[in-house]
Amino acid sequence: MPIYLDHAATTPVRPEVLEAMLPLLGSLFGNPSSAHVFGRAAREALDEAHERLARAVGADARELVFTSGGTEATNLALKGAAWAGRPKGHRLVATAVEHHATGHTLRYLEKFGFEVVAVGVDRYGRVDPDDIERALTDRTTVVSVILGNNEVGTMQPVAEIAERVHARRGILFHVDAVQAAPWTEFDLGALGADLVSLAAHKVEGPKGVGALWIRHGTHLLAQQHGGGQERHRRAGTENVAGAVGMARAFELRAAERAELLPRVRAQRDRLTAAVLASGLVEATGHPVERLPHIASFLARGIEGGSVALALDLEGIAISTGSACATGSTEVSHVLTAMGYPEDEARGQLRLSLGRTTTDAEVDEACRVVPEVLARVAEGSPIAGAAGGPGAGA
Ligand SMILES: Cc1ncc(COP(=O)(O)O)c(C=O)c1O
Repeated sequence: MPIYLDHAATTPVRPEVLEAMLPLLGSLFGNPSSAHVFGRAAREALDEAHERLARAVGADARELVFTSGGTEATNLALKGAAWAGRPKGHRLVATAVEHHATGHTLRYLEKFGFEVVAVGVDRYGRVDPDDIERALTDRTTVVSVILGNNEVGTMQPVAEIAERVHARRGILFHVDAVQAAPWTEFDLGALGADLVSLAAHKVEGPKGVGALWIRHGTHLLAQQHGGGQERHRRAGTENVAGAVGMARAFELRAAERAELLPRVRAQRDRLTAAVLASGLVEATGHPVERLPHIASFLARGIEGGSVALALDLEGIAISTGSACATGSTEVSHVLTAMGYPEDEARGQLRLSLGRTTTDAEVDEACRVVPEVLARVAEGSPIAGAAGGPGAGA
């Protein structure tokens, strides 16, 4: 069996989640909006999914809107808040290291006259709350910050940022917690945000389902129009099985976090140490303020894509960064924002662990990854660091 070290991209659906979902794909197939017995059964399951997810993340059930994933949750948050705030202002603030779900949504909003400010980060990928504060004006309506970075693992000082944002009136604070929620002591109330994006597939739930948490009293314009589902905030017949699966996945994670986080952190640290010992890489991201499951590196003078390919042939699945950027020749905007030159950024590697990662798998990766790095370094160095062949060559 190949070893899967790409849990930041997605995770396998866990058996308990699948079991919870199956009845909704079978006999409980009704449309939750139907008044008859079939509809009522589906409605009950959906309402219960709201309740259970809310309990697992520290929210009220009515504050959660199920979406088709983290990307849609973020689109709804940013577009919905930007348009709702349009009479007040047009300035939207985010960090320079957001996931494309945020970055590309903001770029889209620019076409409609919104002004987008991308606040820079330090060498570790961390934003200074003072810099966010300095970017705020009377015309600012939305601030968006990623809680834990999906490429380099760095956590942002979200509570401090929330304080600065809320010291001014009329600014909504969105947090992209898609990657971080499963891997932190997660409590929505304590984050200090108004809007929070979540996704099921990063926590052993199904792909294609997520949620946006909308704090009570937050004014948002719906971005999808049709029926009155999800309290008129997201039209369309609900993915009931997905919602049930998501709730179950978060519920299980909430119960096991205290045991899981230190275990995975220790495995990750062991793997990081073994890879660093090769002498062929440097670690990226913040050394301490980081998600416990992500090990991230820059291979010196080697294409990350070549390493990932060689490891795949050895039965170890890793990635060169964001799954969304795979196959593109674009270098990581996260690494360039952190100050790495483009040629160095091409050496990006990300190994991400999950609940199901075993010690034996980590042992094997500790042995094989340095070997493969050495082999690739010998065989296909990038000429100087002056721009070599494209990734995946
Ligand atoms: C930080 C972050 N935000 C947003 C997303 C997008 O979520 P989804 O894949 O559910 O659309 C991802 C995952 O790919 C992510 O890691």
